[in-house]
Amino acid sequence: MYRIGQEEKDAVARVIDSRELFKVNGGPQETYHFEEELKAYFHTENTILMTSGQAALTSALIGMGVGPGDEVIVPAYTYIATAMAVVAVGAMPVIAEIDDTLMIDPIDIERKISDRTKVILPVHMQGYPCNMDAIMAIAKKHNLLVLEDACQAAGSSFGGKFVGTIGNAGAFSFNFFKIISAGEGGALLTNDRTLFERALIYHDSSAIAYFGNQLDSFSTTPFCGVEYRTNEITAAILREQLKKLDGIVHDLRKNKKLLCQALGDKARLIPSNDPNGESAMNCTLRFDSAEEADRFVKTVSGATVPINTGKHVYSNWDVIMEKRGAFHPAMDPFRMAANRVPDYAPDMCPKTLDILSRCAHFGINPDWTEADIEARAKEILRGLKG
Ligand SMILES: Cc1ncc(COP(=O)(O)O)c(C=O)c1O
Repeated sequence: MYRIGQEEKDAVARVIDSRELFKVNGGPQETYHFEEELKAYFHTENTILMTSGQAALTSALIGMGVGPGDEVIVPAYTYIATAMAVVAVGAMPVIAEIDDTLMIDPIDIERKISDRTKVILPVHMQGYPCNMDAIMAIAKKHNLLVLEDACQAAGSSFGGKFVGTIGNAGAFSFNFFKIISAGEGGALLTNDRTLFERALIYHDSSAIAYFGNQLDSFSTTPFCGVEYRTNEITAAILREQLKKLDGIVHDLRKNKKLLCQALGDKARLIPSNDPNGESAMNCTLRFDSAEEADRFVKTVSGATVPINTGKHVYSNWDVIMEKRGAFHPAMDPFRMAANRVPDYAPDMCPKTLDILSRCAHFGINPDWTEADIEARAKEILRGLKG
């Protein structure tokens, strides 16, 4: 989260004054308006605001008809929630290597496709876009669906199109660590009407049946779901946050450019699938060895080697690696006869481990002054000298 203030306070006050804190009480309220504004911003036909990014990913997979017996290809570098969403619908996450861009490697996606693969799930980490041209071409060739995890990438684009709107569906997170935030929250975007109807029923199976004539135009028969429904305060905050997204991305890009100019050719940036499309919330440098990267982060405040984040590398996803997919054994996809359980091992993606140990991330701030950028550049250049 970068910018929050009086506008969000006023929005929360508006909801409390209205005493309408429930999403559907008849007329168009905050959630309805936010979803309309999100659709207009991203040029998509359907969107659902819900409780989290993982909720959006899970609901999208339900909408795609994914379940036991199916495989979904996920990258070796992402937050564990991406893989957990796959397990939540009873399917198996198949883990693919990343390439030098730190995003999923299209070549390894193709290697990992089997007769059970149903979905490719690329993740746009830290606002960096995946190579969506290559991914969409593979999906087309093998007749697969694409679910974009854009939880960390609101405002990023690939080839002039917002990430999260290129595949069959996209998921965003609005938790505290994201570019726009309400503390928690998530959204599903899709142009696929059937996927949307299923996800809407699943994410809010009780309320959709009982409130606000939401099922009137549906061709999908209701089924049991879960409770991922949002609330009006979250929606009201996000309406204000969405208005700020363009300004935040503009200033992040400007500040990253200024910082990179000040660093000159001494700093080796990772290659990008679309340098103009990055939200620029992050800068990532590459080094020849893990030792060099470690030395750099020891001297530069806030810098991290991505292999050490603790939860974004597949080898740290303990419950996935150890195949504990549910508390009740009969509900555990790793024990379901329909599934072919992958062989997970901590060293199964050596390329990913190597790349992530030879990089260093540090964040960009949209509110830096020129003096802040100059000071930051000096610190980084000192760090590069070792
Ligand atoms: C790449 C990625 N996917 C999914 C999620 C899940 O989002 P949430 O925390 O809103 O459930 C996150 C959250 O940090 C994430 O970074």
